[in-house]
Amino acid sequence: MRCSIFSLACLVTSAVASSPVTSNVSKVHEETRSLDEIHKAALAEGGVVTLWHGGDEANQQSSLKTAFEARFPGMTLNVTVDLSKYHDGNLDQQIADGNVQVDSIILQTLHDYPRWKEQGVLLNYAPANFGKVHGSFKDADAAYMGLLIFAWGLIANVNKTNTVLAEYPDFLKPEFKDKLVLTYPNDDDAVLYQFDLIIQQYGLSWFDALLAQNPRWVRGTETPATLIRSANSSSVATFTSGISLPLPAGNTLPTQGEFVSWPQTGAILKKAPHPEGAKLLHNFLLSTEHQTTQGWSVRDDLPAPAGLSKIWEQEGTNITGFGAWMSDRANVERRKYWYENKIGTAQGLSPLVDDL
Ligand SMILES: *[C@@H]1O[C@H](CO)[C@@H](O)[C@H](O)[C@H]1NC(C)=O
Ligand SMILES: *[C@@H]1O[C@H](CO)[C@@H](O)[C@H](O)[C@H]1NC(C)=O
Ligand SMILES: *[C@@H]1O[C@H](CO)[C@@H](O)[C@H](O)[C@H]1NC(C)=O
Ligand SMILES: *[C@@H]1O[C@H](CO)[C@@H](O)[C@H](O)[C@H]1NC(C)=O
Ligand SMILES: *[C@@H]1O[C@H](CO)[C@@H](O)[C@H](O)[C@H]1NC(C)=O
Repeated sequence: MRCSIFSLACLVTSAVASSPVTSNVSKVHEETRSLDEIHKAALAEGGVVTLWHGGDEANQQSSLKTAFEARFPGMTLNVTVDLSKYHDGNLDQQIADGNVQVDSIILQTLHDYPRWKEQGVLLNYAPANFGKVHGSFKDADAAYMGLLIFAWGLIANVNKTNTVLAEYPDFLKPEFKDKLVLTYPNDDDAVLYQFDLIIQQYGLSWFDALLAQNPRWVRGTETPATLIRSANSSSVATFTSGISLPLPAGNTLPTQGEFVSWPQTGAILKKAPHPEGAKLLHNFLLSTEHQTTQGWSVRDDLPAPAGLSKIWEQEGTNITGFGAWMSDRANVERRKYWYENKIGTAQGLSPLVDDL
């Protein structure tokens, strides 16, 4: 066919011709090299992998850095933790500037990944064990996939209270007046979703009663857990911090109410400066040796944590709910301003630089 440069028909035809033949996972071959073989390739490439990980304390991924560097001598995991909602815009800037410095990006902003895939900036790469990752967590073309599970839970310090927290209405008990510490829902979308789920179930009267408890509002989701642990702080309980497994005393998961959980999702950039390093990291993250140290696994073939179910069968949570909710940005924005109107804008320094 002869095409004039201005012909719409030609543009459409060539766009179709250059798009992937089909979205079919069987077309992306799973990595067959061993971790040691990829390690050698990553060392030959320079021995560095630059990771941007979503989070709200600078040291939140230091155990991953330690484990990775111990497992793969000579490698440096150059990890930067920042709020996912800031990392994504900074990556967009690198993409726009044609200056991608990031190898791997692992975030809570699940809505970014289909967009980046559409832009053609993600590497279609299936690490070993990709086939075992739960179906709802992975892109059919292996452009992105869930790598670990995050979840909020009910957390109280047993040295500060005897009251057992089992469900969200328990936070309204008189003994928790002035003793709750909560992350601003208008500062973190996964906290926002948690508040929305609770209000859907228990109504606005629950939220009004919560405000009457005079909670302390903070930035960052690790900050409540830190304050609750501190003997110096009067804060006793929260439902906006990550839960750790096995559940420590005083930590519970609701069964009537719904707690937020999601697959923290990762991708390798097509223009990654260190593609072999990035592949090594993603193979390690999905490996049995690593997944079995992480509480809930993203993999179908590994057992559930003791006393719990696999996350997609766990009562009290819907692991795919958050991703679906995050994709409606107009709704997220409306809900954010609804809370901001009730409790004010998030106050304080970034949780990455404050001392809490
Ligand atoms: C995926 O590819 C396989 C083998 O080429 C084919 O049999 C199957 O029908 C395809 N599935 C989809 C959903 O395209
Ligand atoms: C480490 O990551 C930072 C932040 O992304 C980047 O500026 C720096 O160049 C990276 N260092 C190396 C050695 O790649
Ligand atoms: C409670 O106190 C004990 C004994 O001092 C201590 O070992 C434990 O870590 C404390 N628990 C919490 C949640 O602070
Ligand atoms: C608690 O307060 C004391 C006295 O102000 C201080 O020395 C100590 O470091 C504080 N402990 C914590 C865990 O913040
Ligand atoms: C979980 O959430 C997804 C996405 O919103 C929804 O399609 C699905 O029906 C939910 N599952 C249950 C059991 O409610």
